[in-house]
Amino acid sequence: MADPEATVDGFQVILALKGAVAVASVLLVLSLVALRAGKVRLHGQINLVFFLAVMATLVGFEVVVRMLQPGIYDWIRQDPHLLTRLRIHLCFAIPSALLLPIMLYTGFGKKSAHRKLAVLFGILWTGTAITGIFGLPHG
Ligand code: HEM
Repeated sequence: MADPEATVDGFQVILALKGAVAVASVLLVLSLVALRAGKVRLHGQINLVFFLAVMATLVGFEVVVRMLQPGIYDWIRQDPHLLTRLRIHLCFAIPSALLLPIMLYTGFGKKSAHRKLAVLFGILWTGTAITGIFGLPHG
């Protein structure tokens, strides 16, 4: 059995994820400011950091924590109200995570596809941040 003092609870994980989404959102906004200022390369560089930060967070928190403590989100699944909120959040979070590598790829090569997908990504990311930060409990 795991040492109780070495474990974290679901509230702490969600709070940390909210912080990570907020920091990533600031990076995305900065990249859009750079774009407006005509600094396309800077936009790409900031978004490379954005991409790596989001992927590290997804792997670090979601996968590792779930593997180490698989039941950590059971209290959400057992509450129908919270489960609905989680499902709404995942409707945005999963597609935006899948779109992220495509955004990086199209940004470097397929510019016209990148601009079209950017509208969809913008909607999905905004939905991920709002439903994650305001929709999920953290204590
Ligand atoms: C709503 C969000 C976004 C908008 C509106 C947007 C828009 C654009 C536009 C207009 C360009 C310039 C295309 C050209 O040169 O013709 C560009 C380039 C680029 N974008 Fe985005 N983008 C967004 C999000 C992202 C994301 C999330 C990533 C990566 C994860 C990304 C990575 C890149 C890269 C790597 C470039 C190329 C930079 C270079 O040429 O050095 N973008 N973006």
